[in-house]
Amino acid sequence: MAKTEALPKLREDFRMQNKSVFILGASGETGRVLLKEILEQNLFSKITLIGRRKLTFDEEAYKNVNQEVVDFEKLDDYASAFQGHDVGFCCLGTTRKKAGAEGFVRVDRDYVLKSAELAKAGGCKHFNLLSSKGADKSSNFLYLQVKGEVEARVEELQFERYSVFRPGVLLCDRQESRPSEWLARKFFGSLPESWAHGYSVPVATVVRAMLNNAVNPSGKKKELLDNNAIHDLGKADDSLKP
Ligand SMILES: NC(=O)c1ccc[n+]([C@@H]2O[C@H](COP(=O)([O-])OP(=O)(O)OC[C@H]3O[C@@H](n4cnc5c(N)ncnc54)[C@H](OP(=O)(O)O)[C@@H]3O)[C@@H](O)[C@H]2O)c1
Repeated sequence: MAKTEALPKLREDFRMQNKSVFILGASGETGRVLLKEILEQNLFSKITLIGRRKLTFDEEAYKNVNQEVVDFEKLDDYASAFQGHDVGFCCLGTTRKKAGAEGFVRVDRDYVLKSAELAKAGGCKHFNLLSSKGADKSSNFLYLQVKGEVEARVEELQFERYSVFRPGVLLCDRQESRPSEWLARKFFGSLPESWAHGYSVPVATVVRAMLNNAVNPSGKKKELLDNNAIHDLGKADDSLKP
């Protein structure tokens, strides 16, 4: 795990390697904070967003961000979008309420898995998957079952390094209205920090954990970071305010 004092050096060493990165889901709550932080830390020499629509950014800092607009139903036709990235972050996802059960499985399993396959074929060495607390391929709950299944199927692709993040409820000011998540956030926000710690985590902490992990070389082929590990690794410095 990256120690606070080692982070500046780890980041500097990482920058020197001129790596390229792609982000899936950069328009979402986690993805957009991730993109912002990647730009602020200046970690990669090339940044590509892969998504179903082109995003517009006003800030100068985003001017060199590449965008690949793809049709996720025909991802094989867009294999070139996935070529030549050293590191990939997948923050894709929908909800059953929004997309229906079938739509949820299509996005959270099929789109994620196909993207991972194309990324692997395109040379990606380190794949980072944002999954969920409780992910379990034998769960009776569709959400947890799908998260567990996609984790396992991506593992079969044998990336050189595969990091899975399993946060609890994501704490953020969500732009889209999701009443059940809003309630959960209120609930966890009202609990003593030590209790809330096990079940929820600010998006900014997740993003810090993902990047602090990525810059830290690991001999492990697979890393599984649960909610507590995300808190520990994500609080390692204070460059991002929650
Ligand atoms: N919310 C939580 O409390 C929580 C807790 C644990 C784990 N997670 C998991 O963490 C991940 C990220 O969550 P988040 O809340 O940051 O996500 P989010 O804000 O809902 O963003 C989801 C991203 O996925 C894209 N997406 C959704 N449906 C799509 C479709 N049909 N085709 C193509 N792209 C699609 C969205 O693109 P558009 O902008 O184009 O729609 C967006 O970029 C998800 O996998 C989620 O299950 C969430």
